Amino acid sequence: MDLRDLLLVAVRWTHASAAVALVGGSAFYLLILAPVLRRAGPTADPVKKGADAGFKELVDLSLVVFIVSGGLLTFERLSNGAASSAYVAVLGLKVLLSVMLYRWAVQVRRGRGWENLEARLLVGSGFLVVLLATVLKTLYEGGLRS
Ligand code: HEM
Repeated sequence: MDLRDLLLVAVRWTHASAAVALVGGSAFYLLILAPVLRRAGPTADPVKKGADAGFKELVDLSLVVFIVSGGLLTFERLSNGAASSAYVAVLGLKVLLSVMLYRWAVQVRRGRGWENLEARLLVGSGFLVVLLATVLKTLYEGGLRS
C-alpha cells in the first residue's frame, strides 16, 4: 500500500462516515426522537432545541465533507478510464439525489419539522443514495474485470 492508497482510504472513510452520520442521524431523529418529543409536549422544548442545533451542525458539516470527498472520489474513479457510461449515469443520479436530499434537510431544519413529508423524503433519499453508492462500486469493479 503506497501513499496514494492510504490517501484514498482516508477519503473513502471520511465520505462513508459522513453518510453513516447523516443517514443514521436523520433516521434516528425521524423514527425515535421526534415521536418521543411529540409525546413529551412543551416540557421537552429544551431537549428539542439542543437536538435541532445538533442536526443543523450535522447537515452543515456533512455537506462540506461530501463536496470535498465526493469530488476527490469522482476524480479518482473517472481519471483512469475504467468507468463505463452506465457508471457516469448512476453517478449523475447519485449527485442529483444528494442535492434533493440537502434541499429536504434544509426544509426540515428551517421549520418544516419532522412530521412532514420532507422528513420522510430526507431519510428515504439517504438510504437510496447509499444504495446507488453500492451500485457504483459493483459497476466499477465490473469495468475493471472486462
Ligand atoms: C457531492 C455529492 C457526492 C458525490 C460527488 C459523491 C461521489 C461518490 C463517489 C464517486 C463514490 C465512489 C463510488 C465507487 O465505489 O465507485 C461514492 C461512494 C459513496 N458515497 Fe458518495 N457522493 C456524494 C454524496 C453522497 C451522499 C450525500 C451520501 C450519503 C447520504 C453518499 C454516500 C456514499 C457511500 C456510502 C459511498 C461508499 C463509500 C465506499 O465504498 O468507500 N455520497 N460517492
